[in-house]
Amino acid sequence: MFKHAQLESVKAWLTDPAHGALVRHVRIQRAIRQLILEGALPVGKPLPASRSLASSLGVSRDTVESAYSQLHAEGFIERRVGSGSFVSQRARCLPSRKRQRPAQSEATVQLSRRGEALLHSGGVHNFQSPRPFAPGVAETRRFPLAVWEKLERQVYKEYGTRALEHSEPQGMFALRSAIADYLNLERGAQASADRILILTSSQQALGLCAQVLMDAGDRVLVEDPLYQGTRKAISAAGLQGVPVPVDAHGLQVDGMAQLAPDARALFLTPSHQYPTGATLSLDRRLLAIEWARQQRAWIIEDDYDSEFHYAGRPTACVQGLDSHARTLYIGTFTKSLGAGLRIGYLLLPPQLVAPMTAARTLQDGHNASIAQLTLARFMEDGHFNAHVRVMRSLYAERRDVLADLVQRHLGAFLRPQVPVGGLQMPCHFIQNLAEDAVVRAARGAGIDLLGLGSLYAVPRNDAGLLMGFAALTPAEMREAVLKLEKVLAGLAR
Ligand SMILES: Cc1ncc(COP(=O)(O)O)c(C=O)c1O
Repeated sequence: MFKHAQLESVKAWLTDPAHGALVRHVRIQRAIRQLILEGALPVGKPLPASRSLASSLGVSRDTVESAYSQLHAEGFIERRVGSGSFVSQRARCLPSRKRQRPAQSEATVQLSRRGEALLHSGGVHNFQSPRPFAPGVAETRRFPLAVWEKLERQVYKEYGTRALEHSEPQGMFALRSAIADYLNLERGAQASADRILILTSSQQALGLCAQVLMDAGDRVLVEDPLYQGTRKAISAAGLQGVPVPVDAHGLQVDGMAQLAPDARALFLTPSHQYPTGATLSLDRRLLAIEWARQQRAWIIEDDYDSEFHYAGRPTACVQGLDSHARTLYIGTFTKSLGAGLRIGYLLLPPQLVAPMTAARTLQDGHNASIAQLTLARFMEDGHFNAHVRVMRSLYAERRDVLADLVQRHLGAFLRPQVPVGGLQMPCHFIQNLAEDAVVRAARGAGIDLLGLGSLYAVPRNDAGLLMGFAALTPAEMREAVLKLEKVLAGLAR
């Protein structure tokens, strides 16, 4: 007593691999329930006798009986001895899925102003490895997985099922200690475990800073050019970013106070400005600290890739120079170990530990304990420093290979600017090429690039490409450079 289409839709449910995890009678029950909810089987409609439906579906009568019993128990059908099964009177009160479907004009969602701002920011799109030349992507194929596995097993052994309990909201003490030791030793920071807040990423840290320290409408100073993740975190919080130009010595700190005398914070990448690669000079660091003291403003120091400095040691971080506790230091393991690990952190002035931790717990509670505990051991046992050392020399070689390949094959179009650190190389156009068109055409050829000009708030004559080199072997880079040569030659014609 089903129409052809209704029988077909029950059959489709039964055979759809997406429902493979459900036993047959549940699939039949769900299929009929859906027909009732959609109004395709109206109140009072008789259902086929179980024997006849079983034979149409090629299942046993018991299977259909089980499905009908469940529908009966849920109130979707009534069963009368001698007359069969019918769609229940109670189904009249069910919200019809068909009727609920919004009209076309209602289909657009009504978001809050905050929701609109988040949507319009477009979110942060991370490049996926291993497409060449995605900027900022680390080489994960060299990660000492066997060591990590061994340490993770140790964690399970020591903690057992306790590892599945909630972590301390600020992060596991062992990891906070290991990070504080690392920062004091390697980055010249003033760190202690009680001032570290473990997070999933720098992105989370940037978002927290933007939301907790400032109110919508407040002005903050930002580098121009600027990392997209910072720009989006700032606009999502409703802040107004005031761009400050960058030169070969980093942010032009001396003029910035006049640009926005009321600015509440300064977002900085002092070790390795993103994307120009400039290192902020010491006198400018000191000026920035003095500005923050006088203004009672914050410096948000994003130290995203300072592990990878190829000419001597990187300069100590701003946080370590700031004796007024106005600097929040952001670190991440995205570049040093891999983005998928999703561990970053904030080193905070003491008075900000409680508010930042509270704000973070409202977002997602805390990080997963097992990864935190494994990473703590990885650092304590010296594997982190050893891995960074190996990758540093590998990346330095790869940087030189890319510079050479660009000069040899793309020299007619691009001038490489060999960076002293980091995982990517800015390459400037020496021909009049449209950055957008190059990025689009390259993407079509399987190559991910970021346009340099797109990162400026105030348009400047600095069109070009940001090319990642860390995640690619020399052979992979060569193959991609030859493809890019064809793309550029095609566009330059
Ligand atoms: C300047 C800057 N900050 C932060 C990050 C990202 O770090 P995370 O993955 O921890 O958000 C990147 C990554 O490209 C970056 O370039």
